[in-house]
Amino acid sequence: MERLDKIIASQGRYSRSEVKKLIKAGLITLNGEKVKSADIKVDAEKDLITVDGEDISYKKHIYIMLNKPQGVVSATDDPIHKTVIDLVPSKLFRQGLFPAGRLDGDTTGFVLITDDGDFAHRILSPKNHIMKTYHATLDRTLTQEDIKSFTEGIELRDGTLCLEAQVKMLSETPPVAEVKIHEGKYHQVKRMFAALGNKVVALRRVKMGGLELDESLEEGECREITAEELRLISE
Ligand code: URA
Repeated sequence: MERLDKIIASQGRYSRSEVKKLIKAGLITLNGEKVKSADIKVDAEKDLITVDGEDISYKKHIYIMLNKPQGVVSATDDPIHKTVIDLVPSKLFRQGLFPAGRLDGDTTGFVLITDDGDFAHRILSPKNHIMKTYHATLDRTLTQEDIKSFTEGIELRDGTLCLEAQVKMLSETPPVAEVKIHEGKYHQVKRMFAALGNKVVALRRVKMGGLELDESLEEGECREITAEELRLISE
């Protein structure tokens, strides 16, 4: 059981002082009864709370899919650049949000933003091998030899060995390859192609585990991930 004002504020839409004002205005109900005090204890999972006629469907954590544009950094704050957190609209915003994994500033596509540290740890742990799928626009098309190197595990220029990865060409003009990797080393995709004497001209993450980026999201747009979709990530 937690204080009502704390529960409502944890959902991000109203601050605790706003909740107090809403109570004074008679706009908050608990199981159908008007609430008179902010410190009343509630069971967030069971009690029905409404604010100004709208249900507060309590969620312990939130999971957001962002279609990241170029030039935005995968960080919670940055003195110069816009961050992925700056792109979260107020209706989805809450304290403690962070990107679960990073994309380079010039990489676009799927970034998962959450306030669930355990979940992020699980999907990012190299032990769990969550597959990430990228579309890489290249300098030149891949040879059979290049494809074989990916499937055997590429050695980066600094000697780091990568796990085996899958790659296939999606188009020839311009040369675009689909790459699936199970790990997340620094600049990994770019460095894998660099090790083969190729260059990534543009990079986009299109899938995390079994969950595809919703292509109806414009760059810079976010939406909440459903519970069913969330399961696809770790499948
Ligand atoms: N690999 C890269 O090189 N950059 C990214 O942003 C993601 C994977």
